[in-house]
Amino acid sequence: MVVRLDLDGNEIKAIKICMIGGGGFIGSHLCETLMWETNHTVLAIDVYSDKIDHLLQEDTPWANRISFYQANITLDPRVNDFIKDCDLTINLAAICTPADYNTRPLDTIYSNFVDAIPVVKCCSENKKRLMHFSTCEVYGKTLGSYLPADDPRRNEPEFYVLKEDDSPCLYGSIEKQRWSYACAKQLIERLIYGEGAENDLKFTVVRPFNWIGPRMDFIPGVDGPSDGVPRVLACFSTNLLRREPMKLVDGGKSQRTFLYIKDAIKAVMLMIDNPGRANGHIFNVGNPTNEASVKELADVMTEVYSKVTGLPKLPQPTVEVSSLEFYGVGYDDSDRRIPDMNLIQKQLGWNPETSLNDLLEVTLDYQHKTYADSIAQSMNSSKAA
Ligand SMILES: NC(=O)c1ccc[n+]([C@@H]2O[C@H](COP(=O)([O-])OP(=O)(O)OC[C@H]3O[C@@H](n4cnc5c(N)ncnc54)[C@H](O)[C@@H]3O)[C@@H](O)[C@H]2O)c1
Repeated sequence: MVVRLDLDGNEIKAIKICMIGGGGFIGSHLCETLMWETNHTVLAIDVYSDKIDHLLQEDTPWANRISFYQANITLDPRVNDFIKDCDLTINLAAICTPADYNTRPLDTIYSNFVDAIPVVKCCSENKKRLMHFSTCEVYGKTLGSYLPADDPRRNEPEFYVLKEDDSPCLYGSIEKQRWSYACAKQLIERLIYGEGAENDLKFTVVRPFNWIGPRMDFIPGVDGPSDGVPRVLACFSTNLLRREPMKLVDGGKSQRTFLYIKDAIKAVMLMIDNPGRANGHIFNVGNPTNEASVKELADVMTEVYSKVTGLPKLPQPTVEVSSLEFYGVGYDDSDRRIPDMNLIQKQLGWNPETSLNDLLEVTLDYQHKTYADSIAQSMNSSKAA
């Protein structure tokens, strides 16, 4: 492999990475890039491995550089030994599906805060570098959302652009259990930041802004529970594959910015390879130019799915449902999420590249090729039953 240089022109030395939650959506793409493009070694820890099984085969050129350890980190004391044995720990493990935040608040809080504490402590006590995955949800709602609907200040960036070291974290009341996830992530960020300040923990916190792409979540009834509710990309993909209308919660008014997973992984790679520039920082990682409301996302997905499959669009591609009906009691939502990109541009020179249309073309082509036959079979067998 050719010598790889960091942003300051120094040779990047191979390191050993303990990747907790490495079998998930982001972990699978990160493992792929680490195997294809670097000499780093990865120990992936997860309950599941199906999304990285293709990397774990014995006949691959990287067979001696990746291994998988099946474990639930809350139940396995060996995790500490693995962290101690590695140079960098990347913690991706979390319950991170909005349908769980208000219906399983305890699991959500334990997973995102309590279960992450021993990982932070172990890194801090053993002087190991930690890269922790937080979320853009820590910002909660925008300042602008508290202004009257017709207030012109809503259009001023300082009322909606989210800045790592400046924007407040604005959540709803405790009864709105939706905020259990954001609040747990915020508290673990504070713990990590405190460990950095008091005990010199070398850390980087990543705040992903709606990273999407192939292998995200599951399709209910095919590779996940039939009553499961995945994140929006997989929900809408399921509807498109089943040729049924996409459900727009509360009209799909919330606005999001969507980042292609392959662009996102480039940002994470820069953080891994440039500790001097990434340590001590919390980074927004998103694509401010790919903003769309959830309704607009559904519209683009309808167009793109029709283009990649040649299938006609449904006469009624969307239906509206209330958040109470879809998510149950205690749901609430962030209105808008535009990341300020100054810090990541300054420290790492990173910029996103892929448009919403392009990333959806790749993703929906993948979804169709991977799932269309299984969906057709499961729909036929439930008709026959
Ligand atoms: N995808 C995004 O756009 C996005 C947005 C915001 C935040 N994040 C954060 O990034 C991280 C990774 O997200 P993802 O999209 O890859 O989610 P994912 O659900 O695909 O991956 C998480 C993985 O962690 C594993 N895991 C959970 N609890 C575990 C435990 N106790 N022991 C072992 N493994 C466990 C799961 O099995 C899963 O494979 C999460 O912390 C999430 O909160 C992601």
